[in-house]
Amino acid sequence: MADAADIPESTDHPSYPMRRTCPYTLPDGYRELRERPTMGKVRLPSGRLAWAATRYEDVKAMLGDNRFSSDLRHPGYPVMMDHQVPAPEFSTSLVGMDPPEHTLARRAVAGDFTPRSARQLRPRVQEIVDEYIDRLLDGPRPADLIEAFANPVPLLLICELIGVPFGDRDFFLRISHTVMNATTPEAGVEGMAELMGYMDKLVTDKEREPTDDVIGRLVVRRGEPGVPDHRDLVAMAFMLLMAGHETPANLIGLGAMMLLDRPDLRKALIDDPSRWPAAVDELLRYFTIAEIANSRVALADVEIGGVRIAAGEGVIGLTVGANRDPERFADPDTFSLDRGDQRSLAFGYGAHQCLGQHLMRMELEVALSTLFARVPGLRLVDPVEKLRFKEEHVNYGLHALPVTW
Ligand code: HEM
Repeated sequence: MADAADIPESTDHPSYPMRRTCPYTLPDGYRELRERPTMGKVRLPSGRLAWAATRYEDVKAMLGDNRFSSDLRHPGYPVMMDHQVPAPEFSTSLVGMDPPEHTLARRAVAGDFTPRSARQLRPRVQEIVDEYIDRLLDGPRPADLIEAFANPVPLLLICELIGVPFGDRDFFLRISHTVMNATTPEAGVEGMAELMGYMDKLVTDKEREPTDDVIGRLVVRRGEPGVPDHRDLVAMAFMLLMAGHETPANLIGLGAMMLLDRPDLRKALIDDPSRWPAAVDELLRYFTIAEIANSRVALADVEIGGVRIAAGEGVIGLTVGANRDPERFADPDTFSLDRGDQRSLAFGYGAHQCLGQHLMRMELEVALSTLFARVPGLRLVDPVEKLRFKEEHVNYGLHALPVTW
């Protein structure tokens, strides 16, 4: 994780990441970057410089252009910290791949992440959500909604997707929690080794006896173009856990916070539940919690945003700013349930656009709509100004959300 405290002082280029001082507004510095006549550079904690694309159209152009690579090992890739460059023996699964390798690998797994798959999973997600709301209501008051609800719901869903056997769930939940919340690098490395060991065993077990889940189905199709071998499948299971757990947990937490803070929005959604999908899309845009994922390195000289990006230079798509670009979104700092199908860049854009997005929209809608329907008296214990946010993390979210009812 990039810690903003480690960002070196720079007199020439603004430092990145930039902290959000309020959950509802852009980080200081974004507006200034966007209003420059041409795209500018930022300095990363690793000391590397990268172009910062801040306008909606520039970010979209960059992410949609195959002359930009996602290869994390490319020497020009804008890594936050040098130690984040993956070791050669570590498979980067989909996220670090480029076409044509990426195209085949993505196609091999895409069938499990369609709008239809999301619809089929909905009843199971409803059961998981109901189970954790039952536990919340049976537990002590006040409660931390992140710990009691926002964290376990997506984690259990990932268990279902990758096919973690029922008997292993407690171990899996505990070790995943340790890795995600490691307070020292040593604890993180130790937990990661244990988790990778577990994933390796999980894939081996499925190779012996295939099961009906994302990983089990890929085992059966081994040998088809793009279908991962053992090592890449272990990396994919791990990547699905990482991609599919923290971001949903963060957005469930922020979404609950916002709706608890805004009785007008809550009332609008309770009066007309058909507005939930619009609320979910707007939450995705408004908080844009996963920005650094949109980093690339240029493989050729490319002109974007009024500048020539030279081959070998890094670019970061600042989607937090792009999703508040007034050229694209009218009154962008207002949370609106009436933006129609005007999609934001919250899930990225182009070939790497979030694989889990249909699943995610459904999960967010079920989680938040059920929470507010079943616990109508839910309220914040502390005002929003007193809450602790993950300002120092790559993905934005809440550390804790004390609630009562
Ligand atoms: C609110 C929740 C989420 C947000 C904001 C989010 C955001 C993103 C973004 C911005 C990317 C693009 C990365 C890039 O361009 O390199 C991405 C990729 C990806 N996401 Fe998500 N994501 C979320 C939830 C999920 C879930 C639930 C899953 C899986 C179960 C998932 C799986 C993936 C995968 C596999 C990729 C890589 C796709 C590729 O490289 O082809 N995400 N996500």
